[in-house]
Amino acid sequence: MSAKIIDGKAFAATVREKVAGHVSRLREVHNIVPGLAVVLVGDDPASEVYVRNKGKQTLEVGMNSYEHKLPEDTPEADLLALVARLNADPAVHGILVQLPLPGHIDEEQVLNAIEPAKDVDGFHILNVGLLATGQKAMVPCTPLGCLMMLRAHHGNLSGLNAVVVGRSNIVGKPMAQLLLRDSCTVTIAHSRTKDLAAVCRGADILVAAVGRAQMIPGDWVKPGATVIDVGINRIPAPEKGEGKSRLVGDVDFDSAVQVAGAITPVPGGVGPMTIACLLANTITACCRANDLPEPSGLTA
Ligand code: GUN
Repeated sequence: MSAKIIDGKAFAATVREKVAGHVSRLREVHNIVPGLAVVLVGDDPASEVYVRNKGKQTLEVGMNSYEHKLPEDTPEADLLALVARLNADPAVHGILVQLPLPGHIDEEQVLNAIEPAKDVDGFHILNVGLLATGQKAMVPCTPLGCLMMLRAHHGNLSGLNAVVVGRSNIVGKPMAQLLLRDSCTVTIAHSRTKDLAAVCRGADILVAAVGRAQMIPGDWVKPGATVIDVGINRIPAPEKGEGKSRLVGDVDFDSAVQVAGAITPVPGGVGPMTIACLLANTITACCRANDLPEPSGLTA
């Protein structure tokens, strides 16, 4: 038996299409152009690629993109001053400060300086609390993308056993909150969990977000389970020659695909959904800022 492959690339394209439709309507009916500001401090190559892709896709759906690139040695006070300017700018509906920030900058302080209504990453402490208490929040993009794919595959998630492997603030914890809100029975597992294999084998929904290449083998997967692989790990591929490498997830895809009912591949699974959900969050923020109805199907 081989699992259904959940095509995140195609799913992300449908999300972007919906977003583009909302952008057109906002422009034509309300004369509003949603705007997303992305701030990058330093020149980390991976972050530069992410930021470039975000800017490109923002423009493609018809929104305004504002990119702010600051040098590595930018004082924290200067970054906070920029965030304050973006908070006050009515053309900016969403603000994202690319992580990681250089070591001399207090990440929490910067994230919590972003106006919560413009916090399209959902990392502000207020949004974390709103999500945890089941109130209207801005929801982190990667877990939101995972939730959209799970809802599309299962319809109703109520009563399913969900195991989230990984307890990060960016993915694991908000993912668990979202699954709980959809009435799953949720377990958060992590590196110290006893008999992680047995815990994983109990999962109808298994979300892997640990950042360790191919850590979860197929025999940890319950037959028929849905596996969402958030990991993006680069590993050397000696069989393909010197210097070549490839991307793999936290799940050993080749064995898991034999057991699971459905599985997201890496690349082409969760990854493309993250930026699509960032655009969706920007539309949501823009509608809320203008007292307009929220777009359906693009929020949690
Ligand atoms: N760096 C890697 N992923 C993310 C993300 O989702 N948001 C931000 N702000 N930085 C990141």
